[in-house]
Amino acid sequence: MKRLAILTSGGDCSGMNAVIRAAARTAIANDVEMIGYRKGFAGLLKNDYLELTSRAVSGVLQRGGTFLQSARSQEFRTEEGRRKALDNLLQEKVDGLIVIGGDGSLNGARALDLLGFPVIGIPASIDNDIPYTDMALGVDTALNNIIYAVDCIKDTASSHDRAFIVEVMGRNSGYLASTSAIATGAEFAIVPEVEFDLTEMCHQLRRRYEEGRTNALIIMAEGAGHAQEVADSIKDCAGFETRVTVLGHYQRGGAPTVFDRLLGSRFGLTAVELLLSGTKGVMLGLSTTTLTTTPLEMVVKGGQKKLNNELVHMADILGI
Ligand code: F6P
Repeated sequence: MKRLAILTSGGDCSGMNAVIRAAARTAIANDVEMIGYRKGFAGLLKNDYLELTSRAVSGVLQRGGTFLQSARSQEFRTEEGRRKALDNLLQEKVDGLIVIGGDGSLNGARALDLLGFPVIGIPASIDNDIPYTDMALGVDTALNNIIYAVDCIKDTASSHDRAFIVEVMGRNSGYLASTSAIATGAEFAIVPEVEFDLTEMCHQLRRRYEEGRTNALIIMAEGAGHAQEVADSIKDCAGFETRVTVLGHYQRGGAPTVFDRLLGSRFGLTAVELLLSGTKGVMLGLSTTTLTTTPLEMVVKGGQKKLNNELVHMADILGI
């Protein structure tokens, strides 16, 4: 392989730049050229790209969003559009493509895979609704954004006997709502996956109010209904004054957390190495969430944990 390409598609998220940087630098370290299409599949259809030299990707690691920009392309959804994209890739002598994005973007990656083009998918969506990966890129940064905002809201809620309904993103997934509710100590999480009983919630809030609780926090997933309607019902039954805060696109931006910088770097580096070794038509994923138990005897005899070789390899390549 002599020339690879990368694009970011669908909704942006923090950590995408880390993938692009790592992929470009890994390609360069292997004497392979890397190009980046602007605005996702739309850029691929217009043949709009830039050369990703080592210099071109310097200074992007700490920036949120995607410096290649992103878009949702209607044309690429058609058979004709997909054939045109394939023609453009072949005409530019691109040997493999890395697609960074959510479910729609991975569908696009699969379409090119079906046409026989070597593709690797990288799961990136704050919604964390992509199967076969415990964490998608951008989720950790979004969660950190949410808990920062909710902690601020809790301060003011406690000063005024108020209940706050904070609406978070996630489309039809309750991942952001449920995990941020746990991490902020919220009273309730309302998610699309679980039916909730508004009357019972009001009853419990009323009891807490009568016990002298000065505030209440409810995190609601955007796909679970209308936050204002929940707030209106609580106002009538629970005693607390209510306010609604919709966090909106604030959740998607900002400097990526350490977790997303590392995950993005691992995804980018590995995607290139996979393509160079002949692997194609797969999505990278991360498997991490299981708690384990180890006999204390083994722990004390285990000695100092070794530095992971993958980290040493990454530091070596990405610092070009
Ligand atoms: O899929 C990511 C996401 O941020 C969802 O949580 C949200 O519903 C949607 O994208 C918003 O899309 P847009 O940026 O096009 O308004």
